[in-house]
Amino acid sequence: MAAVKDIVTLVLDKDHKTTVTVHLHGATVLAWKTQGKELLFVSENAVYDNKKAIRGGIPLVFPNFGPWELGPQHGFARISRWKLEKRPEKDDSGGMAAVFTLTDNKDTRKMWDHKFKLTYTLYLTEKTFTTTLKVDNTGGDPFTFTTLLHTYFRTDDVTKATVSGLKGLEYADKVRGDAKFTEDRDLVTVAEEVDRTYAGTPNSHVITGVVGGGKILMEKTNLPDTVVWNPWVDKAKAMGDFGDNEYPSMLCVEAGHVATPLSLGAGQSFTGSQTLTLLDE
Ligand code: BG6
Repeated sequence: MAAVKDIVTLVLDKDHKTTVTVHLHGATVLAWKTQGKELLFVSENAVYDNKKAIRGGIPLVFPNFGPWELGPQHGFARISRWKLEKRPEKDDSGGMAAVFTLTDNKDTRKMWDHKFKLTYTLYLTEKTFTTTLKVDNTGGDPFTFTTLLHTYFRTDDVTKATVSGLKGLEYADKVRGDAKFTEDRDLVTVAEEVDRTYAGTPNSHVITGVVGGGKILMEKTNLPDTVVWNPWVDKAKAMGDFGDNEYPSMLCVEAGHVATPLSLGAGQSFTGSQTLTLLDE
C-alpha cells in the first residue's frame, strides 16, 4: 500500500465516482475511475518503496524509452520524487486540474547532465482524463530525449481486447529482436507476448475490452508513436512486481515520441498530451 503522504487525489464529484489518484513517486497515476469504474491496472505486487517504478497506472517515461546506457530502463522520471505544483482545483467548466513538476537535481544530473523542467498537468472531467507533459530545456545547451505515457489499461480478458488505428503501419517487434514488420490487421489483438513500437500512428486509437466491456478513445497530440505491450506467461513470471496470473488483466497502449528522439535547444520546450475518453458501450 502506498503511504497517504505520497498520494494526491482529484475528486470530481461528491460520491467519489470520478477520481484520479496520483503517487508523487514518478507522478505516477495509480487510478482513473470514471462513473465508478476503475479503468487502469495496477499489479497486486506493485512495490511502493519510493525507489522502484510502480507497476501499473501511468508511469512517465523520460528522458529515455527502453534500456538506457546512462541510467535505468525508461529513464528517471518515473523513479523521481515530483512536486505538487498546483493542488487539485475545479475550473470554470467544472473539470478538475492538478499540476506536478520535476526539475533537474543532483541525482538526475549524475545520469544526464542537463537542466530541465517537466510540468505534468492532469485534467479530469466526467468522462475524460487528459495528461499533458511539457518539457522545458532550462539550460544553455541542447539535449535529446524520448518520452512516453506508459498507460496500463485494465482488461477483463486481454485476448478479447482490441486496438484500432494500426493497420498498414511499420512496427519494431522487441519480441523478435526489434525486427521490422508491417501491421496487416484492422484491429490488433493479443494472444501471446506482445511488445511492439508502431511509428507514425494516427492521433487516435479506440481500445476495446477494457474492464466491464468498456471502450476507450485515446487521442494524442505530439506523441506520434504507439507501443503495445503485454508480458504474457513467461515475462509475467520473471517480473518480481507482477503477479504470475495477472497478464490477462492488463494491456499497455502507450503514446509516446520514441521511434525518433526529440531535440530541444536552450530555452525551447515541447508539449505532448493524451486524452482518454470512456465511450458509451
Ligand atoms: C514497455 C516496453 O514499454 O515497457 C517493454 O516496450 C518493457 O519492452 C515494458 O518490458 C515494461 O518495462 P519495465 O521497465 O516497466 O519493466
